[in-house]
Order: sequence, then structure tokens, then C-alpha cells
Amino acid sequence: MVLILASGRQICLDTVEGATAALKDGGQAIIPGHSADSKSISRINSDDPELIMTPPETKRSLSLREISLLTKCIKQRPEWKPHWTLIPTQNHVVDEIADDQNEID
Ligand code: HEM
Repeated sequence: MVLILASGRQICLDTVEGATAALKDGGQAIIPGHSADSKSISRINSDDPELIMTPPETKRSLSLREISLLTKCIKQRPEWKPHWTLIPTQNHVVDEIADDQNEID
């Protein structure tokens, strides 16, 4: 997920570098293992209309389930992996079985 800020700056939550980078006003969007100190979570849970994410004017909001999943994920220290389509395939070595060892025969 990439957050595009009004300033044009982007926070990319898909990479550990992007998600944990120091924010302009201090803090980090995600601090692995510390959901309460992670700015993404504090902004999502904020009561302040100036701060709450997603901004009220977008008329889009996260469901309680989505908030709880995100919070749980941050608490469990997420491991960032490349998208599965970018992970090279591996050749698996299969043991050769002699013809006369075949269980069926
Ligand atoms: C789950 C979704 C979202 C999360 C977790 C989130 C998180 C954040 C965080 C952590 C910041 C602080 C950045 C900083 O201090 O440098 C921020 C700022 C901002 N976000 Fe979001 N955001 C979300 C969705 C959105 C959406 C949908 C919009 C607009 C369409 C938006 C617009 C902004 C803007 C304009 C700012 C900069 C102004 C400000 O600091 O209030 N965000 N967001």
C-alpha cells in the first residue's frame, strides 16, 4: 500500500524501509512490535478530524476488522517479503526411483 500525501511525498507501506522511515513530524508509520506508537495506528484511531486517517472528506473509512488486523499485524512484528510474483521459482530435486522400487508394481 502506498500512501500519497498532499505534499506529494509518498509513504510506501509495502517495504520495511518505507513503512519505518522517519516521518516529517517525527515518529514512523509503522514501528514493528509497537502498534500504539506507530503513527499509522494513532492516526487511524485519532479523534481529531485534522489528524484522523482516512481524512473525513474522503468518505472512506477502515472497518473495525481492518483496524484490528492492521494493529495485530504490527504487534506481531511483520516480516516484509517481496510480492510472491517477484520471488524466483526454485527447481525441486526429486529422488530418482528405480523401476523395480515402484510401490505400485
Ligand atoms: C489506512 C489508510 C491511511 C493511513 C494508515 C494513513 C496514515 C498517515 C500517516 C501516518 C500520516 C502522517 C505522515 C507524516 O507525519 O509525515 C498521514 C498523513 C496524511 N494522509 Fe494519510 N493515511 C491513510 C489514508 C489516507 C487517505 C485515503 C488520504 C487522502 C485521500 C490521506 C491523506 C493524508 C494527508 C493529506 C496527509 C498529510 C497531512 C497530515 O499530516 O494530516 N491519508 N497519513
